[in-house]
Amino acid sequence: MKLSSANINVMIKACRKAAKVLIRDFGEIENLQVSVKGPGDFVTAADKKVEKILINELQKARPNYSILSEEVGQITNDQEFKWIIDPIDGTANFLHGIPHFAISVGLEKKGEIICGIIYDPIKDEMFLAEKGNGSYLNNQRIRVSARSKLKDSIIFTGGPRQTSNNKELSFEEYRKFSSLVNTPIRKMGSASLDMAYVAAGRCDGFWQRYLKYWDVAAGIIIVKEAGGYVTDFNGNNEYLKNNNILVTNSKISKEMIEILNN
Ligand code: IPD
Ligand code: CA
Ligand code: CA
Repeated sequence: MKLSSANINVMIKACRKAAKVLIRDFGEIENLQVSVKGPGDFVTAADKKVEKILINELQKARPNYSILSEEVGQITNDQEFKWIIDPIDGTANFLHGIPHFAISVGLEKKGEIICGIIYDPIKDEMFLAEKGNGSYLNNQRIRVSARSKLKDSIIFTGGPRQTSNNKELSFEEYRKFSSLVNTPIRKMGSASLDMAYVAAGRCDGFWQRYLKYWDVAAGIIIVKEAGGYVTDFNGNNEYLKNNNILVTNSKISKEMIEILNN
């Protein structure tokens, strides 16, 4: 089985083209780790370069669609359709030569995400979904896991470091969560892949505060079409408003909500 529609094909083509550059640049990172200057500026340039390729390709195929992208921000056009782009999700991993990051592109129609692609170029894993047509990993249908107990699960979380103007609670929550359950918790460093892994049944749940729309846009549809739940920490639909996202295989939602609100 294969997911193929006009918009999906546009997204795949744009991602594959951008991924070529990303893979080449990742190859350079190793050399830069040992240089005095380090890879910082190089990574910023790579981010912008990848974003430019994605935007060019998407605009070529769909000149009227609006765009929201992490580096360039909002490009307003057609009010109905909007691409939501994170050129490299997992920049810190990329910067350190850790092969776990992704290109993430979602497509919004009248405020609702209808297609999503999360592409891990190093592992050549392409997670794709379209509303009503299911979620796929490299042309194989994926489903969330069937685990019904938190104690048997693996959970992902994430979060930036604490700064003075960011009341980041992830570390405290992580500690609290760990003290209440005996469940392995991982911080993998790419929110889009965290969501894709829930969709593929590799992990059972993921929670994080303060994510941006481009971190989660593609993941939302990929998780939902794989049978998972995307909510806020109260189990409601307000996750884009309050920026607290909880993603599960559906079965462990109740237990996770209880602990996150403990
Ligand atoms: C980050 C990653 C990370 C998450 C951070 C995000 P970036 O995105 O998704 O996993 O914990 O909150 O900002 O900066 O690598 O695009
Ligand atoms: Ca991101
Ligand atoms: Ca990014």
